[in-house]
Amino acid sequence: MNLLHLEGVTRTVQLVDAPPLTILSGVDLEVAVGDRVSIVGRSGSGKSTLLNLLGLLDTPTTGLMLFDDRPVQSFSSGERDRVRGRDVGFIFQQFNLLQGRTALENVMTPLLYATGRAFWQRSRIASEMLGRVGLGNRLTAMPDKLSGGEQQRVAIARSLVRGPRLILADEPTGALDLETGASVMDLLDAVATESGAALVTITHDPAIAARANLHLRLDRGVLTVAPTGAAEVDASAADAAQAVAAGAPS
Ligand SMILES: Nc1ncnc2c1ncn2[C@@H]1O[C@H](COP(=O)(O)OP(=O)(O)O)[C@@H](O)[C@H]1O
Ligand SMILES: [Mg+2]
Repeated sequence: MNLLHLEGVTRTVQLVDAPPLTILSGVDLEVAVGDRVSIVGRSGSGKSTLLNLLGLLDTPTTGLMLFDDRPVQSFSSGERDRVRGRDVGFIFQQFNLLQGRTALENVMTPLLYATGRAFWQRSRIASEMLGRVGLGNRLTAMPDKLSGGEQQRVAIARSLVRGPRLILADEPTGALDLETGASVMDLLDAVATESGAALVTITHDPAIAARANLHLRLDRGVLTVAPTGAAEVDASAADAAQAVAAGAPS
């Protein structure tokens, strides 16, 4: 089943004293439940803008975009917020944890907007989720007392605590060393699979891009499907990407 369907989607911004800027043009994309999608592209090519559209933080300027078979332009802003809160989890390069709040409080935050059991049992659900990411013994730790890898695990727990069907990760390993990044991605893959969610990851790392079943590339706002094994960011990374693709289990 298609979670996302984009057809001829553009995103343009009006600038002061300059012609409008086209950030995305003619984007066609389908994402189904369970898909693993990677997006690569140079800085400024429109990756974060696309991710924000997919996650209902922003709406297309023109074109068709369906979320769960419903046109997103038909959502009221309240409905957009509700669907995003329930169905979408975001993970960012800089973790974006609330400082001065414990790991548990951070993970509980999305449940404050839930209803029923998810709201009333938010503390128990959040501590279980922290257990699933291997931080069951760090519930009361403050973010500044955790390593980068641990902070990203807290952020993963927070993004997954409401059981989203779509997880959007914007360079999730960009602030981590290679080894920590790989283990964070293993965890993200595992919990996404467990919860049956689609995972869309923006990355500069060919090894992480190679994990996907759908490889996308953005070039100045134009999206193309890259052939498998060609997930490199630029020509200089081509050899590394090919090595990774050749060595990776299919
Ligand atoms: N709200 C905005 N107003 C003006 N320019 C923007 C806005 N959002 C993004 N841009 C520009 O659009 C381009 C793509 O941005 P972005 O999606 O953040 O790229 P990426 O994530 O690939 O680095 C950049 O040149 C950026 O400066
Ligand atoms: Mg970006």
